[in-house]
Amino acid sequence: MNSRISGFYKMTQEERMKIVKEFADLNNEDIDAIKGRALDFETANRMIENVLGTHEIPFGIATNFLINGKDYLIPMAIEEPSVVAAASNAARIARIKGGFHTSSTDPVMVGQIQICDLETPYYAKMQILEKKREILEIANDQDPVLIKFGGGAKNIEVRVFEKEKMVVVHLFVDVRDAMGANAVNTMAEAVAPFLEKITGGNVVLRIISNLAAYRLARARAVFDAGELGGERVVNRILKAYTLAKIDPFRATTHNKGVMNGITAVVSATCNDTRAVEAGCHAYASREGSYTVLTHYEKNEDGDLAGSIEIPMAVGIIGGATKHPIARASLKILGVKTANELGEILASVGLAQNLAALRALSDEGIQRGHMKLHAKNIAAMAGAEGETIDIVAEKMVERGTIRIDVAKEILAELKK
Ligand code: MEV
Repeated sequence: MNSRISGFYKMTQEERMKIVKEFADLNNEDIDAIKGRALDFETANRMIENVLGTHEIPFGIATNFLINGKDYLIPMAIEEPSVVAAASNAARIARIKGGFHTSSTDPVMVGQIQICDLETPYYAKMQILEKKREILEIANDQDPVLIKFGGGAKNIEVRVFEKEKMVVVHLFVDVRDAMGANAVNTMAEAVAPFLEKITGGNVVLRIISNLAAYRLARARAVFDAGELGGERVVNRILKAYTLAKIDPFRATTHNKGVMNGITAVVSATCNDTRAVEAGCHAYASREGSYTVLTHYEKNEDGDLAGSIEIPMAVGIIGGATKHPIARASLKILGVKTANELGEILASVGLAQNLAALRALSDEGIQRGHMKLHAKNIAAMAGAEGETIDIVAEKMVERGTIRIDVAKEILAELKK
């Protein structure tokens, strides 16, 4: 199936649904979930506490993604205009030079066990490392299913905090297709008493680290200079990137653009958006000061070579991924492993960032935003159906998008 679909934005909901249904072999339950009938009160009330209702945001599809030679449609749940269109557009440009190419590390998460009140922390480190085999055994006894699928606790490391008379044990756990928090936290809690026994110290924290620096997803793509708007735009994108690399004020916004895409897909698949965001931003600071998650270089053809490497703690099993909309999203993506999902996320992040940089380096982002914003304002002013488009267009023509102006135009039209 081909994800290169032109004019998807012009289609009706039914036309779009037909395409996605055929692409992903969706059933009625999936379609119902996507249409916003996913979560009844009972299910929601079991997911979190004190439930009053559910909260809806738009669920859209980014088209045109070619990743490792395979076509993908990308489900995105997000309230912000332009994000889905921008991702689709960047993916369209990336296709010209072969699309995205990706890789990832094994899905290894870190569990931290903090041992305090140690008179001799360096000595304790040695005591712990001598018992590595037993520690891993206790950890792995907690999750026979994970072991069966080739995952489990694989290694440990001990970090000494001498002044604080403390050590922190890192338990490296291959969590396979889960996000991993449950498995890792269970293991961290299980090994704690044994660590206290070995060292004579007191364990305080036993919890996963969201700095998933050993679970990385990577993507690269070449963006055709002509399609980007020519050499001038390429050079301006590189200048924008240079500022982001050296200035945390700009890097934060640059990375926010990356996360616009990533978080929308993380959200559509009901993964933990906060875990992914925390991991990515911390990773951006790993060398001491906050910097970019993506890189851009001009290649010998004058095209823009983009790349990204990010921690990616997402799962396709466990957690809220059994939510009907998550199931439908995973079906649309057609992913077989959490690593594949992570690599798609890296590709989407790169596409999103490139699209933002391209707009910013050329005409700015407001023109594109303005059209959708105008439609929102027109609807708020009371316009309905086709009138929304007419009122929005007139406001854009006038260059003023305000509710009073929308009301004025609406009144004129009614006359
Ligand atoms: C807006 O949500 C995201 C951007 O600000 C990202 C960027 O500046 O690169 C457009």
